[in-house]
Amino acid sequence: MPQDHGYSTRAVHSGEERRKPHHALTTPIIQTSTFTFADTADLTDFMEAQQQGIETGRIEYGRYGNPTVAAVERKLADLDSGEAALLFSSGMAAVTLTLLTFLSAGDHLVITDDCYRRTRQFVTQFLPRLGVEATQVPVGDYDTLEAAIRPNTCLILSESPTNPYLRVVDVPRVVEFARRRGLRTIIDSTFATPINQRPLEFGVDLVIHSATKYLGGHNDLLAGVVIGSKPLITEVRETQGLVGAVCDPSTAYLLLRGLKTLALRVAHQNDSGLQVARYLEGHPKVRRVHYPGLPSHPHHAVARQQMDGFGGVVSFELDADLETTGRFVDALKIPYMGPSFGGVEGLVEQVALASYYELSQEERAEIGISDTLVRLGVGVEDPVDLIADLDQALEQTFG
Ligand SMILES: Cc1ncc(COP(=O)(O)O)c(C=O)c1O
Repeated sequence: MPQDHGYSTRAVHSGEERRKPHHALTTPIIQTSTFTFADTADLTDFMEAQQQGIETGRIEYGRYGNPTVAAVERKLADLDSGEAALLFSSGMAAVTLTLLTFLSAGDHLVITDDCYRRTRQFVTQFLPRLGVEATQVPVGDYDTLEAAIRPNTCLILSESPTNPYLRVVDVPRVVEFARRRGLRTIIDSTFATPINQRPLEFGVDLVIHSATKYLGGHNDLLAGVVIGSKPLITEVRETQGLVGAVCDPSTAYLLLRGLKTLALRVAHQNDSGLQVARYLEGHPKVRRVHYPGLPSHPHHAVARQQMDGFGGVVSFELDADLETTGRFVDALKIPYMGPSFGGVEGLVEQVALASYYELSQEERAEIGISDTLVRLGVGVEDPVDLIADLDQALEQTFG
C-alpha cells in the first residue's frame, strides 16, 4: 500500500495479497504446523536457496513462519514505518526475545522506571542471572540517563507513554544521544499504537507492541510484535526460530481482523480518553489526572510534538484512601474490572491492588505507586456514557 494512503486505508489493505486463494476476500488461516516438498529436487532447491541467503518466500516449518502470520507482519511493518516486523505469542515474548537477541553476558542496558512491571522484572531480576546488568532511570530525567551510561552499555529501553503514569519520552532527544554513544534504542509503543506515534520515524531502532491491547483491540487474543529494519528483525527471527513463542495462525487471523478497524477505534479512544481526562480533572475529588493530552501533564509539550493523539488510557488519583478508591471502582457500571486496556470493552483497575498487591503500602510508596491510583482504559463505548458512569460512581463514593 503506498505510504501516502491514510492509516485507515493502510490498516485495511496493507500487507495482504490482492488476489487470495479461491478468490476469497479475506486472507485465509493457513492452519498448518509444517510445509511440504514435492520431491527431493524441490527440497534441495529450497535448502540451496536458504544456504545462499536467497529469499524464496517459502517456509518449511511453523516455527519459522506462516503465511497468515506474515500478512499481519507486513501490515504492522507498514503501519509503523518499518521494513519488517515479527509477531510473537505475547507482548512479553516480544520484549524478552528481542532483548535476549541483542544482549550478552557482560553487557549493560538502561531502562526507564515507569515501564510495565513484568518488563522491569525481566530486565532487573532475570537478565542479571545471565550476566547482563541494568540501570533504571526516571522517565524524562535525561541527565540521569546520560550519567547511567557505562562503557559496556549497549541499549536503552523505554515505553512511551509509560505504564501506568503515561509519561512520555522525548524520543528524538534520546535517539540523538544514543546515536552519539553508539547505543541501540527500543521503544515499547503499546500505549500509542502506530496511529498515534511512529518512533521509527524519529530514528529509534526497534519498536515493540503488546498486540494484546489496541492492535488486536477486542480483548480476545494475546500477541506481541517487534518492528524495525530488515537486518535487525532477521536477527530476532533467528532467536524465535530457536526459542519458539510464535503467534499461531488462528490468533494471527484475529489480529488481522482487529487491525482493519485500528484507525477507527483509536480515533474514538483518543477522543474519549481526552473527554474523560478533562472531566476527571475538573472533579473536586480527583487529586491528579495523568493523561498526556492535558496541558497539566509534565510531558504534554513533548507529547504534542511527537504524537498524533494521546490514547484511551487515563490514570488518575482520587482524594481518598485505598479502601475508598476500591469502593469507587466497585461503583462503576460500564468498564469491567481487570488488567489490560485497548480493547472495545473498557477496563479499570486500582493499580495498587491489581498489579502491586504483594507489596506493602510503604514499598508501593517507595516506587511511586499511589494507593488511590486508578487506571481506566476506555473501550469504544460512548464517552458521554463513560463520563456519566464516572460521575455516578464518584457521587456514590463521596456523596
Ligand atoms: C506496555 C506494555 N508492554 C508489554 C506488555 C506485555 O504484553 P502481553 O501481556 O501481551 O505479554 C504489557 C502488558 O500489559 C504492556 O502494558
